[in-house]
Order: sequence, then structure tokens, then C-alpha cells
Amino acid sequence: MHIGIVAGTGPAGRGLAARLALSGARITIGSRSVERAELCASGLRSEIAARGVHPSVRIDGGENADCAEADVVVIAAPWEAAEATVSELVEALKGKVVVSMANALAKVRREMVAVMHPRGSMAEAIQAVLPNSFVSGAFHHLPAGHLIELERTLDSDVLVVSDYEKATEVTCDLVKMIPRLRPLVVGSLSQAAAVEGFTAVLVGVNKRYSCSASVRLSGVGDGA
Ligand SMILES: NC(=O)c1ccc[n+]([C@@H]2O[C@H](COP(=O)([O-])OP(=O)(O)OC[C@H]3O[C@@H](n4cnc5c(N)ncnc54)[C@H](OP(=O)(O)O)[C@@H]3O)[C@@H](O)[C@H]2O)c1
Repeated sequence: MHIGIVAGTGPAGRGLAARLALSGARITIGSRSVERAELCASGLRSEIAARGVHPSVRIDGGENADCAEADVVVIAAPWEAAEATVSELVEALKGKVVVSMANALAKVRREMVAVMHPRGSMAEAIQAVLPNSFVSGAFHHLPAGHLIELERTLDSDVLVVSDYEKATEVTCDLVKMIPRLRPLVVGSLSQAAAVEGFTAVLVGVNKRYSCSASVRLSGVGDGA
């Protein structure tokens, strides 16, 4: 599978790119600057090669628009920039599955809190900008630091939301590519606000207990 990661040069995009590349996916990392994306891609290739884990990973860098050539496109932009970034890709992303991992958070006094977007959530906002794409939300709760630590097992659930069965299926397949990640389908994009907002809860836990918590739901059973 070819996966494009728009704004993939940040910690979250880099970490996800590395994990998916290790699982055999071809990755295009997108950026506002081709040089930055190529540097990021070559850095990841060398990092992976240095660990001797996988000699033939396919990670390239390009402009954000180059990501639209992929089968599936992940949006890893900061929330404030996500809508403007995808608004330049409306035509290119027509008919594609587009996965938002953006969390709208803001610091209030000494605490990170969820920002209530007028559209309800970032995933809904991105869907509104891309009416002809199949938007899902996923990967919100995976700490970037854990993603990039390739020796670390990611024992987590990934909550998946979408209004489209096609996008839900493709996103679950993406999650399943990474060992020990379990996709859990939450429901429609109407649930995205709760999923994204829960990231603020995890940030609070991380601060209090000096950790990098992620999500694992108990009691789901074998159905997932
Ligand atoms: N960090 C985490 O642990 C984590 C975990 C799960 C989900 N997330 C979510 O994933 C997204 C990415 O997180 P991150 O920490 O990797 O973010 P980040 O480092 O702040 O930004 C990612 C990339 O976005 C591009 N960018 C920055 N400002 C921009 C602007 N004004 N317009 C267009 N592009 C811009 C930059 O790439 P170029 O300069 O190369 O274009 C940057 O490298 C966020 O929405 C975050 O909520 C983060």
C-alpha cells in the first residue's frame, strides 16, 4: 500500500511513517518544503537501516501535494493549519480515503484542554473542506515518542471514526499493519470530538505521572 503523510515531517508523521514503512508500506512524506521532506525521509531511512531492522524500506519526501498520489492519505498537520493545508488538495484528494490524526488542544493556565471546533471536531472540519473524499479519524492517542522508538511494542487501541464504511475499513487495515495495534471502530464522525478531546485527558495523565499514556480498552472481547 502507498501511504501519503501530509505535514509528515513533525514527530507524529515521522513516527507513523517509520512504523508503516517497517510494515512494508511505501511512504511519501509531505511538507511545505521538498528539501525538508527529503531530509526527513532520508533521516528515517538511515535510522531504520542503522538498526538493521529492515534493509528495503520505501520512504520518500515531496510536497504535500505529492501525497495525493498515494492510496491513502494521513493528515498530520497541527490542528490550526490542517484545514488550510487540505484546502489546497481538494481536487487531488477527490475519492481518496483521508485519515485525520489532528487533535485540537490549547493551553489554559498550566493545563492542555480540548478546543471545541465550530464544526464539532477536526475530522469533521477536514471532511467539510473535502466533501468528495472519505475522511476518517485515527491515531490520535499514540504518543509520537513511542511511534519513533522502533524497538518499543505499541500495545494500544486506535479508535477509528468515519461516516463511510470504505474509510473505516481502509483505516482499520492501516492500523492493523502495525504490530500489536488494535483498531476499534467507534462510529461516525460525530464521535470524533470525544475521541480527539480525550487526548487532553491523556496529556493530563502524562503530566501528572510523568509518562506517555495511550489507550487500551478492557472488556472488548474477541470481536474486535
Ligand atoms: N505529537 C504527538 O504525540 C501526536 C500524537 C497523535 C496525534 N498528533 C496530532 O498529529 C498532528 C501532528 O503532530 P506533530 O506533533 O507532528 O505536529 P507539528 O510538529 O507541530 O507539525 C507537523 C508538521 O506540520 C507542518 N506545519 C507546521 N505548521 C504549519 C502551518 N502553519 N501550515 C502548514 N503546515 C504546517 C510542519 O511541516 P513542514 O514545515 O515540513 O511543512 C510540521 O513538521 C497534530 O494535529 C497533533 O495533534 C500528535
